[in-house]
Amino acid sequence: MKANLISSSPEETLRIGKELGQVLEPGMVVLLSGELGSGKTVFTKGLALGLGIADPDLITSPSFIIMNIYPARVPIYHIDLYRIDDLRGLENTGLEEYLGGDGIAVVEWGERLPRSYLPESWIKIVFEMTGAEDRSITISGPARFVPKRLQNTGQ
Ligand SMILES: Nc1ncnc2c1ncn2[C@@H]1O[C@H](COP(=O)(O)OP(=O)(O)OP(=O)(O)O)[C@@H](O)[C@H]1O
Ligand SMILES: [Mg+2]
Repeated sequence: MKANLISSSPEETLRIGKELGQVLEPGMVVLLSGELGSGKTVFTKGLALGLGIADPDLITSPSFIIMNIYPARVPIYHIDLYRIDDLRGLENTGLEEYLGGDGIAVVEWGERLPRSYLPESWIKIVFEMTGAEDRSITISGPARFVPKRLQNTGQ
């Protein structure tokens, strides 16, 4: 299913992320796509709050080190592929072990991840900057992982 939402502030994006985080199950992979500054990291922070992270200030952009791990209800693997412009850069990183396993993987610049790395079910979220503080957020994936309230504008 697909749902399109409009966020008018960072707080709103945080809240949408939190709602999704509350229904995610271990093994899920969440791919985040959108230009620089479109809200992927803000959303990840919300998601981690929904997953019960104790200290949301832990969440920073893992750009330089590919992945951060946050302890929450289940481990959160926060991956950022911004610096991976050549997929060979992913070889021998062991990244696959974190996708579809015991925790939840959130992947910024997720469109760069080869399909072969993905487990059976995953969610894709596309962020578009439609104004200074406006963001269009499109969620697609299995309906059971998209909270009912967020489905109302789906098509
Ligand atoms: N509606 C909104 N939702 C999310 N962020 C917003 C919104 N309006 C303004 N912002 C601002 O946009 C910025 C989003 O930054 P964020 O780090 O989340 O982007 P990103 O997509 O992760 O970028 P990058 O590709 O560089 O990692 C923040 O400074 C935030 O305050
Ligand atoms: Mg980011």
